[in-house]
Amino acid sequence: MHRPVLLEPTIDALAVPADGVGAGVWVDATFGRGGHSGALLARLGPEARLVVFDKDPQAIEAARALAERDARVTVVHAGFGALAEELSRLGIDRIAGLMMDLGISSPQIDDAERGFSFMRDGPLDMRMDTTRGETAAQWLAHASVDEMREVIARYGEERFAFQIAKAIAVSREKRPITTTGELADIVAGAVRTREKGQHPATRTFQAIRIHLNQELEELPRALAAALEFLVPGGRLAVISFHSLEDRIVKQFIAAASRPGAETARLPLRESERPQPVLVSVGRVLPSEEEIQQNPRARSAVLRVAERTHVALPAEGGKAFLKAPDVPSGRRRASTRTRTPRAHFLACA
Ligand SMILES: C[S@@+](CC[C@H](N)C(=O)[O-])C[C@H]1O[C@@H](n2cnc3c(N)ncnc32)[C@H](O)[C@@H]1O
Repeated sequence: MHRPVLLEPTIDALAVPADGVGAGVWVDATFGRGGHSGALLARLGPEARLVVFDKDPQAIEAARALAERDARVTVVHAGFGALAEELSRLGIDRIAGLMMDLGISSPQIDDAERGFSFMRDGPLDMRMDTTRGETAAQWLAHASVDEMREVIARYGEERFAFQIAKAIAVSREKRPITTTGELADIVAGAVRTREKGQHPATRTFQAIRIHLNQELEELPRALAAALEFLVPGGRLAVISFHSLEDRIVKQFIAAASRPGAETARLPLRESERPQPVLVSVGRVLPSEEEIQQNPRARSAVLRVAERTHVALPAEGGKAFLKAPDVPSGRRRASTRTRTPRAHFLACA
């Protein structure tokens, strides 16, 4: 089972009136096991529609079962990076709200066969969509030391990325690395110091998962598309579990809320300055009580923003994306108020 994180604040953030809403379309971009979708549907009226996305075939199976029981639900088996294309394909050009609960679900972590967990020995897979793409074992069999170092440093913010990449290269010369246990042992042998309370392989597993599933490439595409589809007053609610994701969401909301930052010092009239296309509604962290009941929640951050009436620039939502500001060497101080923990650790 998957216990949804920050459930009430996320549904409240989508600003659904208590008596339900007419014919609006909402999107759950990360259906998982439908905890957030179910709570949102409970507040929507009979004419509303909920389009749910997931990459994972098992999540899609659960979503299809829900769609059979509730005609308001439409299921899309695709990455949320394809949000714009998929909504257009469905003939939808406006949405009233969108939520994303990033990362992986408890069923994905708990099933050793999925290869996400160093705590449970299983085949080294790590794909969210098991119907396509390369597995972690396949990638580790051919990636160069430089490529592995770059991925582990960038997406795991791992200080010992080079040593780990070298150790993987040495080990695969002897025999292919095919299980999570083998990879965890190789990493543990290459990492010199342990972080308190963290398995030495935490950062490496997170990095390989992010790389294989293109997690940080899909997120900006989805944010830009959300801006283009949201109606004025429509809300965007995103839960992230590590600082790399949260930084992308935070920078996007900041850029869209202050589009004229670069002209701030110019002597322009107020009417000549670019106006915000989003207003930040705020950031919510889980309560101590929620963390106690669901340790997975401890690294979660919910950010919420509201679309204004201002038209987008010709470039669309992409105008508010900047190149991801991710470190590629030593770990950097986080922008988070709490020590960032890998989603992986939080779920394990
Ligand atoms: C944390 S879980 C969501 C849990 C869900 N909110 C619930 O209450 O059950 C994240 C889900 O997002 C899916 N996912 C992650 N990245 C995705 C992407 N780029 N596109 C679509 N689904 C994605 C994962 O397969 C997983 O099922």
